[in-house]
Amino acid sequence: MMVLRFQLSTCCILVALVAFVSCQVPYVEKYFDQYLDHFNYMSNGQKTYKQRYLIQDKWWDREAGPIFFYTGNEGDITDFWDNTGFMFDIAPQFGALVLFAEHRYYGKSMPFGNASLQRDNIGLLTIEQALADFVTLLYHVKQDLNATKCPVIAFGGSYGGMLSAWIRFKYPNAIAGSIAASAPIFLLADNINRDFFFADVTKDFQKASAQCADNVRSGFTALAKMAASGPSGLQNISKIFHLCKPLSTQDDYMHMLAWIRNSFTFLAMLDYPYPASFMGDLPANPVNVACDDIGNATDVVSGLAKATELYYNGTAGTLQCFDIFTEYVPCADPTGCGTGPAGISWDYQACTELPTVNGSNGKSDFFPVLPFTPEMRDDYCQKTWGVSPRRDWGAVQFWTENLQAASNIVFSNGDLDPWRDGGVLKTTNPNIQVAIVKGGAHHLDLRGHNAKDPIGVVAVREIEKQFIRKWVNEYYTQ
Ligand SMILES: *[C@@H]1O[C@H](CO)[C@@H](O)[C@H](O)[C@H]1NC(C)=O
Ligand SMILES: *[C@@H]1O[C@H](CO)[C@@H](O)[C@H](O)[C@H]1NC(C)=O
Ligand SMILES: *[C@@H]1O[C@H](CO)[C@@H](O)[C@H](O)[C@H]1NC(C)=O
Ligand SMILES: *[C@@H]1O[C@H](CO)[C@@H](O)[C@H](O)[C@H]1NC(C)=O
Ligand SMILES: *[C@@H]1O[C@H](CO)[C@@H](O)[C@H](O)[C@H]1NC(C)=O
Ligand SMILES: *[C@@H]1O[C@H](CO)[C@@H](O)[C@H](O)[C@H]1NC(C)=O
Repeated sequence: MMVLRFQLSTCCILVALVAFVSCQVPYVEKYFDQYLDHFNYMSNGQKTYKQRYLIQDKWWDREAGPIFFYTGNEGDITDFWDNTGFMFDIAPQFGALVLFAEHRYYGKSMPFGNASLQRDNIGLLTIEQALADFVTLLYHVKQDLNATKCPVIAFGGSYGGMLSAWIRFKYPNAIAGSIAASAPIFLLADNINRDFFFADVTKDFQKASAQCADNVRSGFTALAKMAASGPSGLQNISKIFHLCKPLSTQDDYMHMLAWIRNSFTFLAMLDYPYPASFMGDLPANPVNVACDDIGNATDVVSGLAKATELYYNGTAGTLQCFDIFTEYVPCADPTGCGTGPAGISWDYQACTELPTVNGSNGKSDFFPVLPFTPEMRDDYCQKTWGVSPRRDWGAVQFWTENLQAASNIVFSNGDLDPWRDGGVLKTTNPNIQVAIVKGGAHHLDLRGHNAKDPIGVVAVREIEKQFIRKWVNEYYTQ
């Protein structure tokens, strides 16, 4: 199946008029008959499903150009296409073919249609299967395009960045080098300190203003006092936070706290220097905007409400009230799984190969105590899926700290990104590169260039380009 996106040309005309909106690059959407199970001939080994991929060849130099390959992560692949402008910015300089592959069990790449997320069917959602999908797809696309001699450079951000690192670990025959942006691969190490995430969110607010972080802390304290004062307290809270349905129990209140924490999490992750619509519609520098709102509020509790509203209602909000139960769904990942089918797939991944972080503790972070220990995750996952993470698998299968054999990867991390402390921030291996994006939130380097870019991200993109150039040259000369 092949669908060309036409609405994009209207976008481009708009851009000519409104110069600051960036023009989205069109693509051709294709589907590949992908093996359902790469590793077991006896079960589903002969069966296939339709894996979606997006492709753009207008810059491609068929003689000497590489393939830029985005290792799709936990969502609809078009969302990553729309938020990874760096690849399009540099594709013309490299004469690259651009290809984005959707991850199985996300977007339109559902191996068992609308029954994919049932317990009987979800077992084929693994990192190993996803990586095997990617290289199998590449193998066949390269043959179809007579491009078997083209080097492939993998790109990815967040879990996608982990995938782009792992695909180079596992398939150096297929991948010449990788840009692994904001990739917290050490989450798979059993001995990592899992308290870093909410502490790093807190540090981002402290960095914006120490007063702001103090206000958030006192906001939660004041909120707890109100909640403890009984029904009228819960009623007042419900009003201040514009909840659709008033809180009626302490459980509701606890859920609301996690819902608030989730908004701070995203404000920090998406703290880009210009307005962006990735996982939410936010203004430029949303952490500073939230801190202004908090500072200007009449009291610390209203301040918290304002900051929370900023994430859930967005810049051009249309919500009349907040439904905390549809806007935030608790799951195996306390940083949020998101809502809808992608959230369910991610929940399963967080219950198996991808355990994430602990909950908040109120000490190293400014949030209320909302614990989520590895043991609590095990219990939750047993209840939800009948499985729990295998603690040794990360080190055995995905290397974790043992990166001595790795090569041709740039690991980039933003110093504002709350995931940074799960990533590769230093190395003694001369064959991999570590880059810190000063002033960068979650994989800012993968986004398209912008007049508001901090010089830190401009510098890191140059480093990434240099290494891509080096890997491509080495590939052709070896
Ligand atoms: C799932 O898909 C089948 C076949 O397309 C359809 O008949 C069925 O109504 C769908 N079920 C749900 C719950 O959407
Ligand atoms: C690939 O090469 C074959 C044989 O030279 C040719 O028939 C075919 O059209 C080429 N395909 C593409 C996509 O260029
Ligand atoms: C709730 O609000 C009312 C009216 O503003 C106030 O009188 C009351 O003290 C508040 N109750 C709590 C527990 O904050
Ligand atoms: C909010 O506070 C900031 C400084 O903290 C100030 O620049 C801004 O004008 C204030 N906004 C409003 C609406 O008062
Ligand atoms: C969402 O934003 C709009 C526009 O600013 C505002 O009118 C509305 O009251 C906000 N909704 C909530 C629930 O705060
Ligand atoms: C956080 O994670 C570590 C490492 O898994 C664990 O030992 C510790 O108990 C956790 N702490 C809390 C408060 O959940």
